[in-house]
Order: sequence, then structure tokens, then C-alpha cells
Amino acid sequence: MTEASANIGVVGLAVMGSNLARNLASREGNTVAVFNRSYDKTEHLVTEHPEAGFVPASTYAEFAASLQKPRTAIIMVKAGGPTDAVINDLVQVFEPGDIIVDGGNALFTDTIRREKAVRETGINFVGAGISGGEEGALNGPSIMPGGSDESWVTLGPILKSIAAVAEGEPCVTHVGHDGAGHFVKMIHNGIEYVDMQLIGEAYDLIRRGTGKTPAEISEIFAEWNRGELESYLIEITAEVLKQVDAATGKPLVDVIVDQAGAKGTGAWTVQTALDLGIPVSGIAEAVFARSLSSKPAQRAEATSLPGPSSTGTVADPEAFIEDVRQALYASKIIAYSQGFDAIVAGAEQYGWDIKKGDIAKIWRGGCIIRAQFLNRITEAYAENPSLQALVLAPYFRDAVATAQDAWRRVVIGAVETGVPTPAFSSSLAYYDGLRADRLPAALIQGQRDFFGAHTYKRIDKEGTFHTLWSGDRSEVDAVDTH
Ligand SMILES: NC(=O)c1ccc[n+]([C@@H]2O[C@H](COP(=O)([O-])OP(=O)(O)OC[C@H]3O[C@@H](n4cnc5c(N)ncnc54)[C@H](OP(=O)(O)O)[C@@H]3O)[C@@H](O)[C@H]2O)c1
Repeated sequence: MTEASANIGVVGLAVMGSNLARNLASREGNTVAVFNRSYDKTEHLVTEHPEAGFVPASTYAEFAASLQKPRTAIIMVKAGGPTDAVINDLVQVFEPGDIIVDGGNALFTDTIRREKAVRETGINFVGAGISGGEEGALNGPSIMPGGSDESWVTLGPILKSIAAVAEGEPCVTHVGHDGAGHFVKMIHNGIEYVDMQLIGEAYDLIRRGTGKTPAEISEIFAEWNRGELESYLIEITAEVLKQVDAATGKPLVDVIVDQAGAKGTGAWTVQTALDLGIPVSGIAEAVFARSLSSKPAQRAEATSLPGPSSTGTVADPEAFIEDVRQALYASKIIAYSQGFDAIVAGAEQYGWDIKKGDIAKIWRGGCIIRAQFLNRITEAYAENPSLQALVLAPYFRDAVATAQDAWRRVVIGAVETGVPTPAFSSSLAYYDGLRADRLPAALIQGQRDFFGAHTYKRIDKEGTFHTLWSGDRSEVDAVDTH
């Protein structure tokens, strides 16, 4: 009979699971049970890291027996079917009161479904978004757990012990019930997509607009990283741009195939936002830009399409680079404003009590979008928890006001010279749409009423109306059909 010596277990020992298990084992008081479907991975981990004192198990029964009650196990396997398979196996050997945590990148609606099903067995199920990749898993990720309050009592201290620490605070908070954690992780990934796309556009603009080399542009990003744009993504951009390919002596960025891959979480964010009716146009453009890049045959033929007559470098490179920096900052504010709109809408739709300021706080360390700027978001929500939009907070309103002339110059220049800037441009269009006193939506309502009798509201009186377009064009009272 195996002794129940472990206080936490990890199932799935690929890159993420093995690093997370090592992180857990390195914290005072933890003994970690480990299990992987193929036992060779378990053996490899245990042999490679004797210092961790892992308790290996070759069957689920052995794994369960090695855990103290209430048993707590974190699943780190391929998202989708494999997660369901592992849950089914764990449910057979766990008991009511035990806790199963899915730390993979699950779709939040799957987490809601799984939580409901597992709860019926009396076992707790927690979907926890874990960000930060391999390095984060090992040294401290940002963790976004959902699940019940009861699970959080046991799980909270364990997750706090392994999370990244930012300004003295662990980057983990109980986000909300059932799928809330995976929902917020999904939005995090969507923001990551647009952040990367915006940086890509800034690089492209500077390279084409000034003729500077990647190494020179690396210095610009390194400089930006000392100011309000300070963030992990700006920092690694500087690193990537200065890398020289050993085989050819060229900048590495020039020998990498320009087709961006995706694991699907950006697309999930956009699909979810469409369902919620929330414009996350920056994220959508970032996802589509990756799709466009990954159509080599189409792009090869399309290089023959005519471009603008106005090309060439800018007259004042220094001023232009500063404009691009400002445009990047303003667009980034819009990206976060849209992302937080989606969080607010998701919380409303699914009944989660999500503290927006706390979310910004736990993204300050351990995750890909970690940035100085997140403190400003926490402050904005602390000042006014029911902000209608993040960009309306005084700090962000002022930042965009300062940046907007530069932002407009950059978008105009990009359009004139044919540099694609979908995220910069769509963020600006969103900003102008948001602040507009009147929108052409009134005309759209008129068109909808014309062809489909969809009715409209009037600005000057209550009720719903329809114009008899095919009759005498008089207006009649109508039933609201949206
Ligand atoms: N990689 C990252 O940067 C990152 C960042 C955040 C979150 N995540 C998420 O973390 C999770 C783990 O990621 P990963 O890259 O370490 O691993 P992965 O490549 O996504 O998955 C491999 C693991 O899944 C197990 N597995 C696959 N099918 C299974 C099944 N039917 N039953 C039981 N186990 C099965 C594998 O076991 P075998 O060894 O037996 O094949 C292996 O342990 C994923 O959900 C991923 O999306 C990854």
C-alpha cells in the first residue's frame, strides 16, 4: 500500500506539467506526486530531478493513494479530449471533497461543463488559466483560477506559493466561479495577440519608414522599454531583433518565414466576443493578420498587385519614431480597454464576480503581457470600479489625448505608403466610433426598417416605429423587433 505522503499532484508531465511540478516541489512544505499516461516521461522527470523528491505513480490508483486528503491534483495535458479522459480516470479514484484542477488551456465553456459534471460526484473541479509558458511554469506563472470558494481555501495557499510575485504580491487571485479563470486566461491571450501585432506593426513602420536595420530598431525597443511601454513583449522584441543568424550572418528576423502560427485562443476570444456583442477589433485584426500571413500561395501571387505611388523613407526619422511610439501606446490602451469590456460582458453573462483591478494586478508578473502599465489599470478600477470603458479613466483619457495626433499621423502615413497597420488603424477607428456624438447606425436602422420592417426608435419620443416605405411613407407605431 502506497503511503499518502504528497500534498499535491501533477498529471501530465510534458513541458508545462514537468516545470510546474518542479516549481511546486521547490516550495517549502510541498511533496509532489507525479503521473503521466506514458510512464517513461514520469521516470525521466524523477531521474533528472532527484532534488525534487517526487513521488512517482504508474497508475491512477497509485497516484490517488500517494495523495493526502483532500487530494489535490493539477492536470497539465493537451486541452480538449485528453483533459476529459484524465478527468474521467481521476474521478474513478478520487473521493468527495478532493480537488481536480485543470491547468491547461481549456475553452471556458468546456470548463463550465466539466465543473458541473464533476460537482455531481462531490469532487471539486477548478479550471485554472496558467500563463507564462515553460519559464513561467518553472519559476512562477500568473495563475487565474476559477472554481468554488471551498476549493480556493485549499488551493489558494498552494497556488500563491508557486505564482510569480509582482511588487510583493503573488500573481494569483480567485477570479470567479466555474469557468471564470479560463475565460480571463482566454482574454489575456487575446490581448497578447494584439500586443504582439501592434509591436509588429511598429517595427514594420520604422523599418520601411526609416530604412533602419533590425539591430538599430532593437535599440529603439530597448529604449522604449525604459519608458511607459515597459513590458516583457517590448523587452523580448529588442532581443529578437538584435539576434544574428549564425548560418548566414543576416538578422535572424530576416531568415524566419513570415507566417505566424496560432494555437487558437485568439480565435476563441474573438468568437466569444462576437457572441457577447463586444467589439474586440484589435484582437480580431491580430488574429486575421496571422491568418493572412499564413496563406503563402495567395500571397505569392498577390505581390504583383499595384501599391501606392508614394513610398520611400520619412523626412524626419526621429520625429517619426516618436510618433510610432505614441501610436503604439494609444493602440495598446484601446486593446486593453476592449479586453476589459469583454471581461465585464462575460462576467455579466455567466454571473461571475470578477474584480477587474485584481485581474490587472495578477498580470503584472509571470505572464506574457506583463507590463508596468497594468498598475495604471488597477488604479483606474480602484478609483471607479464601474468605469464604462477603461479608456475613460482620467489617466488613459489623458494618455490618448497626448498621443492621438501622432497616432493619426502614423495611420495616415501608413495608408499613403501602403504599410499594413490593421491593429493601429482599427484601434483608432474604434476610438473615433466610441467618442462619436452621432453614428451612422441611425442610417443602418433606416435601411433595416426599409428592407425588413425591423423598426427603429426616435430620439425625441418613447416607443418603436416603422415607416410605410412601400406605401405613403407615413410613420406608424410598431412592435420592437430589434
Ligand atoms: N506550452 C505552453 O507554453 C503553454 C502555456 C500555457 C498553457 N499551456 C497548456 O498547458 C497544457 C500542457 O501543455 P504542454 O505543452 O506541456 O503539453 P501538450 O503537448 O499540450 O500535451 C502533452 C501531454 O498531454 C498528455 N496527453 C495527451 N493525450 C492524453 C490522453 N488522452 N490521456 C492522458 N494524457 C494525455 C501527454 O501524455 P503522453 O506523454 O502520454 O503523451 C503529455 O503529458 C496544455 O493544455 C497547454 O495548452 C501550455
